[in-house]
Amino acid sequence: MKIELASNYGFCFGVKRAIDIAQKYENSATMGPLIHNQDEINRLKNDFNVGLYSNLSDVKPNDTVIIRTHGIPKNDLKELKKSAKKVINATCPFVTTPQNIVKNMSKEGYSILIFGDLEHPEVKGVMSYAADLEDVHVVLSVKDLEKIIFKNKKIACVAQTTKKKECYLEIINALILKNKEVRVFNTICDATFENQDAAREISKKADVMIVIGGKSSSNTKQLHSICLENCKDSHLIENETELENSWFKNKEFCGITAGASTPDWVIQKVIDKIESFK
Ligand code: F3S
Repeated sequence: MKIELASNYGFCFGVKRAIDIAQKYENSATMGPLIHNQDEINRLKNDFNVGLYSNLSDVKPNDTVIIRTHGIPKNDLKELKKSAKKVINATCPFVTTPQNIVKNMSKEGYSILIFGDLEHPEVKGVMSYAADLEDVHVVLSVKDLEKIIFKNKKIACVAQTTKKKECYLEIINALILKNKEVRVFNTICDATFENQDAAREISKKADVMIVIGGKSSSNTKQLHSICLENCKDSHLIENETELENSWFKNKEFCGITAGASTPDWVIQKVIDKIESFK
């Protein structure tokens, strides 16, 4: 069986940057998981004593606290600055962009539409920057638009960085049919696309696909769904311990891809284990 990696996979710029920052601040803590990968979070804990806080109330006055790649809500940041000794911002610059757009456009009197997942920390952070929290609306599909009442005639749109462009376009098309002024910002991150395009290509050739990444990571789940479209034997795993020998029986081509938060050392362990099945 041939094993091949997608032409683009794994760590994106924002995640590499956040990890570099965390490694620089030994004995600090992150507010929420720094990235969506438990193995890497454990490594940062073991090698650099970077802890993890889930609540603002966990923060102590002498702490150095690192803000995760997805960002945090504006008011949490304010609180954090009051309670910690030092706050280090590891929010990905591609996430800071929609935060700033929402802030500026809502100040200019635009209603805000966010294409994304209301429960996602990035979206919670981005929406918190709206001047009027009652006029920021989060949708996942065209259908969700039906129940929205915008306060203004002008609408500004941003998207969660890891969403699909095609779905964003569908929502914008529907919106523009009923509204006079719609300003659209393409805030979707290219790193996600590059990994997605490469996953699409390799999954067309593969008879078994392994997608490595955090099960709660939105971009990993999307890679998995793209692979499933082309290869029904596509498996999403967090690390090599989840691999099953039977997946590779009678297979000729195993493709591998990994989400934007998956470190190379996790990918290598997966490859080694698959090799050992041969
Ligand atoms: Fe940033 Fe894009 Fe990665 S938004 S965290 S570079 S997937």
